[in-house]
Amino acid sequence: MIEQERLLSNPFPGLRSFETDENYLFFGRDGQSDEVLTKLRTARFVAVVGTSGSGKSSLVRAGLLPALFSGHMPSAGSSWRIATFRPGNSPISNLAKALSEVCGADARGNAAIRLTNIERTLRRSSLGLLEVVSQSKMAPYENLLILADQFEELFRFRKKSTDEHPEDEAAAFVKLLQISLTRKKKSEKTHPFIHTSLINTKKYKVII
Ligand SMILES: Nc1ncnc2c1ncn2[C@@H]1O[C@H](COP(=O)(O)OP(=O)(O)OP(=O)(O)O)[C@@H](O)[C@H]1O
Ligand SMILES: [Mg+2]
Repeated sequence: MIEQERLLSNPFPGLRSFETDENYLFFGRDGQSDEVLTKLRTARFVAVVGTSGSGKSSLVRAGLLPALFSGHMPSAGSSWRIATFRPGNSPISNLAKALSEVCGADARGNAAIRLTNIERTLRRSSLGLLEVVSQSKMAPYENLLILADQFEELFRFRKKSTDEHPEDEAAAFVKLLQISLTRKKKSEKTHPFIHTSLINTKKYKVII
């Protein structure tokens, strides 16, 4: 009966993006999923760029993530923690929330304290992201993927924010990502550190 319902249900999610568990319904992007995977392996940073509604979120969520969980990046294994967030009005706070859900130093500890500590570490220095990961005591075989969907909010946020210096937070956020790609602390050497950003190019041009 359940199988029959599944067969009869609409295979399209409608206006929303495909989710990771809808991989069995996601077709037509096989080559592109592999391309993103290859870029991620070599550069550890991928910007998925396309006009609004072209399928960026779906490609990453229903194409890339299932491929990672299935071990299609042999050099990294199949154990992945995915920190997904939208930069919104406060990119560093939102990154902190996403990280506290997937790599808190002590998952049994108080969630609010964990979040405060992570945010404080991120704001303390441009090495903050590396610090958070090394403090999280991830096993050597585990990987972290930071997925910033709607990366362009970083630029919109500058225009709308009531914050006195919104550009400071945006710049600090970009620095955190940049440093984590270019520098490796000794304690972090076993963790591949990867970022994916989803950017809408219609209005914004991004150079990293
Ligand atoms: N391979 C596909 N086959 C059929 N429909 C798809 C496919 N990929 C995406 N879609 C549909 O296209 C629409 C836009 O997809 P999605 O939200 O992933 O795009 P997006 O580029 O992330 O959009 P936005 O710029 O608004 O963030 C959604 O309705 C989604 O279900
Ligand atoms: Mg999207």
